[in-house]
Amino acid sequence: MRLRSAEAKAGRLRDPAMQERVERIVAAAKPYTSRGSPASYIPALAAADPRLLGMSVLTVTGERYGAGDNRHPFTMQSISKVFALACVLRHRGEKSVFARVDREPSGDPFYSLVLLEGENGRPRNPMINAGAIVISSLLPGRSTAAKFRTYTRFLRTVSPDGAVRLDRTVYGSEFRTGQRNRALANLMGHFGTIDGPPDSAVDAYFRQCSVLTTCDDLARLGAFLADHGVDPLTRTRIVSPTQCRSINALMATCGLYDESGEFAARVGLPGKSGVGGGILAIVPGRMSIAVFGPALDPRGSSVAGFRVLELFAAELGLSLYG
Ligand code: DON
Repeated sequence: MRLRSAEAKAGRLRDPAMQERVERIVAAAKPYTSRGSPASYIPALAAADPRLLGMSVLTVTGERYGAGDNRHPFTMQSISKVFALACVLRHRGEKSVFARVDREPSGDPFYSLVLLEGENGRPRNPMINAGAIVISSLLPGRSTAAKFRTYTRFLRTVSPDGAVRLDRTVYGSEFRTGQRNRALANLMGHFGTIDGPPDSAVDAYFRQCSVLTTCDDLARLGAFLADHGVDPLTRTRIVSPTQCRSINALMATCGLYDESGEFAARVGLPGKSGVGGGILAIVPGRMSIAVFGPALDPRGSSVAGFRVLELFAAELGLSLYG
């Protein structure tokens, strides 16, 4: 089986200098874990240990590297927007998806309602909550449960060996407190942007945000974005090359919301943050990188995770901007 031989090859090809680099960078960024704090607007996330820090790398040739808390579980939160978008693009194609959502940065926080009213309920991009809720409404399935099944099936297609588990505590916590997301969904329901009932779209969105992952799993899930839409381990095509480019471009321009410019300058890669503390970064043609540290900056990105990516990109000269 191709997967097994790729994994076996991965063991042989592992570069000790790269493993040492990953460990050294995680250690160097560790002090940054005291500079932020875990998200608290979703009460269950406030319980996370802010001192955690992990990193995983998976190259398109199948080499894996990991350091720190790379096996510690956390909820994907907004990183799920990348996979929901890929899933919906795969099922419906670009034309129908981008008829409802734009591909422009908003410059606003992820939860903002401000632009939506003036722009007739059409979200600026699929990375802000408004756009992501539209994308969740487009997940094939008549019910919320069916939409979520489509999503989890997609994750299993991308990573056949990965476990897909819902963190029920985090889901329940967001379900009880997610009034702002409901406001976004209802406003878009009014304008007709959402496909089907707004309640169902927002619930599917809450569920996808509460799927558990680890740095190891996330780097594995993101690998197809580093290989032009093909999973490098199984050689399964997940999305077309054009769709892959579109997702990476959206991550690069909108993946960290009103911090996307800062991320572009300091890291220079397509990236997606989540308030669970994860950040996924893609080096097109080369590797997928996942970091995790629950202490966040005011814009919802892991402070220490951001620093890990900055150090790693600088050492290897990975920035797409030279
Ligand atoms: O909708 C929310 O507020 C959360 N479920 C996800 C937000 C998030 O991860 C923002 N990214 N940094």
